[in-house]
Amino acid sequence: MPDKDEREVLPNIDCVDFLQWALPRLNFRWQGFRKVRRQVCKRLTRRLKELGLDSLRAYREYLLNAPSEWTSLDQMCRITISRFYRDRGVFDALRSDILPNMFKETQSVNIWCIGCASGEEPYTLALILRLAEDIPGNKHWTVLASDVDQHLIERAKDGVYPQACLRELPDNWIPLAFDAAPEGFRIKDAYKEGIDFRVQDIRSAVPAGHFNLILCRNLVFTYFDTLLQEEIGLKIASKLHTHGYLIVGSHEHLPPSLSECFKRISSCVYVKR
Ligand SMILES: C[S@@+](CC[C@H](N)C(=O)[O-])C[C@H]1O[C@@H](n2cnc3c(N)ncnc32)[C@H](O)[C@@H]1O
Repeated sequence: MPDKDEREVLPNIDCVDFLQWALPRLNFRWQGFRKVRRQVCKRLTRRLKELGLDSLRAYREYLLNAPSEWTSLDQMCRITISRFYRDRGVFDALRSDILPNMFKETQSVNIWCIGCASGEEPYTLALILRLAEDIPGNKHWTVLASDVDQHLIERAKDGVYPQACLRELPDNWIPLAFDAAPEGFRIKDAYKEGIDFRVQDIRSAVPAGHFNLILCRNLVFTYFDTLLQEEIGLKIASKLHTHGYLIVGSHEHLPPSLSECFKRISSCVYVKR
């Protein structure tokens, strides 16, 4: 028997039809949402109830008459899935190759994580930078971690995670870096040092300064349309030092027009020309 949540979710066919109509109007791409659409459909179900509407057809009408509702819909389209050491191969490469090489070139490495969710990705970097034997000691680094969602940034600062979220981390790092907490595992304060969490929308703002390494994974190059990918790709390039690295998600690639700015060196790793 379906659980309560499932019974309450909108019919799949209506949701797909609605998303295929609405997403391009927000400069998103349907293909990116296809597999994760349930997260958005559940939020839409809730929103319809709040507005007292009985169908997505009625919600379309509502959107056409209330332009400010597009902002709410934009928020409902944020996919928030993340975990520590997600896509192990990329973090292994950062740990054994990319970061040690960077520290040979410079004393200080500045990193920017775009779309950092609840902190899983920036904290993974902090764990690597503090615990991995391949990284030379006494080196200086900073991580700027930005996300559009204030609530996620607060959770990131709090740093409490369910066990499932840690499953890809090297086993021996968990007792070193986390304390048991009633809700799961709390990251120790020492691993929060050096990370600056910030609420920021990548479509409208970038941080000051330049970076040696930028991670932009499972966001821009999955969910945004090609024009927006190109626009943000150029912004990212302008924030990277020459020969700086851009890491994208394991199923992502940059649009061809950005090959003037970036050279692909392995499946998720690009270098600024
Ligand atoms: C699917 S998660 C990816 C998290 C992490 N980068 C990873 O790969 O595990 C996408 C994140 O991007 C954030 N996000 C969505 N739109 C954004 C925007 N316009 N600017 C900044 N962050 C955004 C979401 O809130 C969410 O936390």
